[in-house]
Amino acid sequence: MEGFFIFKTFSSQQFLFSFKVEMTTLISRRFCHQPSGIKNVAVFGGGLMGSGIAQVAAQSGFNVTLVDQQKKVLEDAQKRIRQSLEKVAKKQDKVEQSEFVDSIISRIDTEQFDANKSSTFAVRPETDLIIEAIVENMDAKHKLFSVLDASASEKTIFATNTSSLPVVEIFKHVKRQSLVGGLHYFNPVPMMKLLEVVKAESTSEETFEKLCNFGTEMNKTVVKCKDTPGFIVNRLLVPYLAEAVRMLERGDAEMKDIDTAMKLGAGYPMGPFELLDYVGLDTCVAVLQGWSESYPDNPSFRVPDTMKKLATEGKLGRKRKVEKDFIVTQSNVMELRYHLDGFNPLVNYVQHSI
Ligand code: 3HC
Repeated sequence: MEGFFIFKTFSSQQFLFSFKVEMTTLISRRFCHQPSGIKNVAVFGGGLMGSGIAQVAAQSGFNVTLVDQQKKVLEDAQKRIRQSLEKVAKKQDKVEQSEFVDSIISRIDTEQFDANKSSTFAVRPETDLIIEAIVENMDAKHKLFSVLDASASEKTIFATNTSSLPVVEIFKHVKRQSLVGGLHYFNPVPMMKLLEVVKAESTSEETFEKLCNFGTEMNKTVVKCKDTPGFIVNRLLVPYLAEAVRMLERGDAEMKDIDTAMKLGAGYPMGPFELLDYVGLDTCVAVLQGWSESYPDNPSFRVPDTMKKLATEGKLGRKRKVEKDFIVTQSNVMELRYHLDGFNPLVNYVQHSI
């Protein structure tokens, strides 16, 4: 991987397509809002969220470098991005489908880096924004940002996609205190229209505005948030998901009925179990665990036993299945059913199809 500005060999169709993407982006930036000035973005973490962020940034015309500790994660990310772009492309003019996919993919470079093994990483001087989407672990985030702080240009903005950790805490060791903030995306990033932009105590007005404008340039609807637990969405959503599991544990209703009820009675696109399976049990457990340590008296932050057990066993949901075509044979929603079968048999719960 040579850098952000590698000269790529384009076919004429690819070139025309790329040109169209550039023009659309330029027009929307010129007429809709103040430009962020951001062009080059590095995303750390090649999981579901990181790859989604990289994809949408590339689709919006940014040059992207996607960095992860593991080669395999980067390969899976590339597959996932291609599959998602193919879905997007299907809605476009047939002739341009493969050109569309190739031109977006050509904007994403990949690089391997493990902050546990190396204390130096050469952040390119052109990097305007770094978005961290690694594991929800404070030590891991501190380690990564201390390496990046030492080598990134002093103008580079640092953002975290944390779901639940305090942004101020994540950046407490970096020198560029005014150039930090939160960019919280939603899964699946290519489909979800929302972006929560989080202002930490030290975030300057200028940085916050740039991050908001960057979100708009990524074609997201931006909401502004303070640095509070779960910001807006997760503060409401995660306790709701946990309560659904507790409802099941108590035997108040069957899983399929809880899912159906929330879809048809509250207008959610997915029921809570379907969504838990989709977001990943490990993510929900990590969020709740962090909050219940900080706020032990809040019962809505308690991790339900079933959720903890499944996550400990590595039964995380659909996210582990990154094989081609997104085909899974066994959803962890089913695992949840098996686990509960002993004391609360559920019948006829049809496995979610993808
Ligand atoms: N990339 C591109 N396109 C995709 C896609 C992806 N990853 N996933 C789905 N699509 C497209 C499909 O191709 C389809 O397009 P079409 O309508 O033109 O055929 C369209 O989206 C609808 O997909 P499906 O028919 O497969 O399924 P749904 O209608 O159920 O939509 C969904 C899928 C968009 C995921 C919808 O179910 C949904 O919005 N679910 C709720 C997701 C949610 O709540 N996310 C937030 C989780 S919380 C979070 O992320 C915070 C974190 O901190 C934990």
